[in-house]
Amino acid sequence: MVTGDLTKNRFDLSDFKKLGYARAVQFAFRETIQLKTENSPSSARLGSLVIIGTGIKLGSHLSPISLSHLQKADVVFAAVTDEITEMWLRQLNANVQSFAPLYADGKSRHQTYQEMIDLMLKEVRAGKQVVGAFYGHPGVFAYAPHKSIELARAEGYFALMEPGISAADCLHADLGIDPGKFGCQYYEASQFMFYQRRIDPTAYLVLWQIALAGEQTYAQFTTGDAQLQLLVELLSADYPAEHQVVIYEAASMPFEDPRMEWMPLSALPTARLTLRSTLVLPPSQSLQPNPTMLAALERLNVMASD
Ligand SMILES: C[S@@+](CC[C@H](N)C(=O)[O-])C[C@H]1O[C@@H](n2cnc3c(N)ncnc32)[C@H](O)[C@@H]1O
Repeated sequence: MVTGDLTKNRFDLSDFKKLGYARAVQFAFRETIQLKTENSPSSARLGSLVIIGTGIKLGSHLSPISLSHLQKADVVFAAVTDEITEMWLRQLNANVQSFAPLYADGKSRHQTYQEMIDLMLKEVRAGKQVVGAFYGHPGVFAYAPHKSIELARAEGYFALMEPGISAADCLHADLGIDPGKFGCQYYEASQFMFYQRRIDPTAYLVLWQIALAGEQTYAQFTTGDAQLQLLVELLSADYPAEHQVVIYEAASMPFEDPRMEWMPLSALPTARLTLRSTLVLPPSQSLQPNPTMLAALERLNVMASD
């Protein structure tokens, strides 16, 4: 029997051929967990935590391994952006608990994140196989997933993060931006304002959570035109007012198109921003060769050929 083969020999290519890829990946994953548990210290505890990413587009961005985790979890905690995605998760696992009620206007997001961590770890400590399902990639601009994994591991539990399709992945696809062409810098918009950063205007600049730029209370879900105007002034050191920037929102429903709204940088304070908006600034300057480094490399080449 195929399952038996997999258990005895762990997995090999012939199992993938016999089972078909999707099912083989699920078996292979179970094997991996089993191996890790066998090899972990005897103090390893029963409960486990797997944080997965549900992707951005409903129902189509979930990896086979993440699907497998979802289906076999004792409890799934969902941090997704809409009720339809929650309903879809409930079809995959009957025990889905939503994190949505933890958010409230005027309530610190730090407190919300701590509550998420506490809820997941409570179930792990109770010996459950817990899945945290976060939209996009769970490790991209997301505090609770990283922190809960760190804490679970420190307490001796098995904890793992599976990557998901991030808004960043959609952005590179929809806007046709290859980070290899000029380079690409990611910053959280408020952090970009609160701290002194050295940006490179010859590379792309991507500002996340632009709708909250300069929001200092961590308890509101909007920012003001004045804060956005300050951001424009900060950026004006490297980008002219008429520099064309784009507000990007990846489609989250299969029937939607992405929003890619181009405008001059100076128009940002009055632009329509939502919690899904990401701001992208193309380079404002061209790449400059580094003559010192090029000469040093040339000397190496000459030495090697002597
Ligand atoms: C807390 S971060 C979470 C990102 C998520 N973990 C991911 O991998 O996409 C929230 C920010 O991600 C970006 N974002 C989320 N959904 C988006 C979408 N549909 N299109 C573009 N950017 C999005 C926005 O900048 C938003 O403010």
